[in-house]
Parts: sequence; C-alpha cells; structure tokens
Amino acid sequence: IDYGTPARQSESQVTLEIDGQTVTVPEGTSVMRAAMEAGIDIPKLCASDSLEPYGSCRLCMVEIEGKGGYPASCTLPAAQDMQVRTQSEKLNQLRSGVVELYLSDHPGESVTGEGSGDDELLQVADKLGVKEVRYPSGRNHQDAEVDVSNPYFAFDPTRCIVCSRCVRACNEVQGTFALTVDGRGFGSMISAGTDQDDFLNSECVSCGACVQACPTEALLEKEVAEQGVPEESVVTTCAYCGVGCSFQAE
Ligand code: FES
Repeated sequence: IDYGTPARQSESQVTLEIDGQTVTVPEGTSVMRAAMEAGIDIPKLCASDSLEPYGSCRLCMVEIEGKGGYPASCTLPAAQDMQVRTQSEKLNQLRSGVVELYLSDHPGESVTGEGSGDDELLQVADKLGVKEVRYPSGRNHQDAEVDVSNPYFAFDPTRCIVCSRCVRACNEVQGTFALTVDGRGFGSMISAGTDQDDFLNSECVSCGACVQACPTEALLEKEVAEQGVPEESVVTTCAYCGVGCSFQAE
C-alpha cells in the first residue's frame, strides 16, 4: 500500500474523525495518510509515501466540517477533533472534472495493457466513473515527440500530467537534480533541463527513480513499452558499491 505521504514521528498524537471513523495518528501526519492507514482510500496522482507532499494534482480534495473550500488532503496536517469527509457527491463531481481536464490532453489509452493498464490516471478515471471528456482537447503536447535518447527508458510528453513526481524523485530520492518543470500553465512540461532538451544529454544518471515515480506511463522502460509488464520478476541488489542499485531479471 502506498499511503500517499511519508510517515511522521512525534511524541504527540492527534485524534480525528474521518468518514465517521475515529483515527489517531502522530502529529504532523497528513489527513491523506491518516485516512489511508484507516483503510479509507482517497484518489491521488501526485502523492507518494516516498516523496514529500506537493499538492499539484488536486484529486485528493476532502471536506472539513466547519471550514470552507476543498483542501488537498495530502498537504493538510491532521488536527485534533478535525472531522473529515472523503466522499460526497460534490467531491466526486470536482474530482471527475479534474480528471476530465487531464484526459483532455492525454491519449486516453494505456501503453502497458488492456484497459487502464498501469496508468494511474486511467485507473482513477475508471474508479470515478469518468467515461466522457466534456472539455475540448487542449492537445498542447499531443504532437510532441517521444524522447527515446536514453538507452533504458523513453519519455512521452503526450502522457505527462506534470504532477512532478519524477522531478521530486530525481531530487529527493536520488539527489541528481536532472529534471525540472519548464513553462507555465497548460504549456508546462517536464524537461531534462539542457539546451539539447533530451535525457541523454542531461545530468540524468539513468537510475530509474523517475520511471518508478511516474503515475501515467509518460516515463516508461523501453522493454516494458515493447513487451508489456512482466508477469514475474526477480529483483536483486548489486553488492559492488554502496549505492544500492537494483537489477531486475524477467
Ligand atoms: Fe493531493 Fe495530488 S494527491 S494534490
């Protein structure tokens, strides 16, 4: 299970109510993590428990009793006596609208399998029952070329929702700082940050942290794109140095 945000350590605990369920968590824990630990699933795309919360996708909106608006649960710290609702008609409507906007600039099909495959955006769309996109296609990136310069993985901008999970994985997990977000608004896109603008000529060390982090198959191992997701795999860790790179045999 990915709990959405990292676990927090604290001697103080807070008790709150989520969908009528009483939950106690260490102070500093996000509402999203508190809910997920209690078995309550909240839709998410930009959050991961290996990365600090960022709040870019807006899918994890919740309602807080006595407060206005729809805050993102991944960036909202749980507070004593807070009363949270994760499901309502309004929340479903808002989340579906957000998903439709993403899908308006997305191919709408998985690369890795039938239906939604490994594409978390398509999986969330399925769960929310989004069948049609009411918005005209932005098609900002639909003519963009796939960057196949890296020998191990490809970057397809047509699938990218700019959630920044890859950028944060590159920075927070690997400490390489090879990726950034270039541009603004609908024109924004992940960039390897070089004049040549491809992965091969960037600071990328091919560690694969960005590929692991990507929720939409925009960054995908070439083998997986060509042959599909392996049914079985063995992961071993090389003992040659202290980095801890893993090798996967299929
Ligand atoms: Fe909270 Fe994306 S998961 S904003």
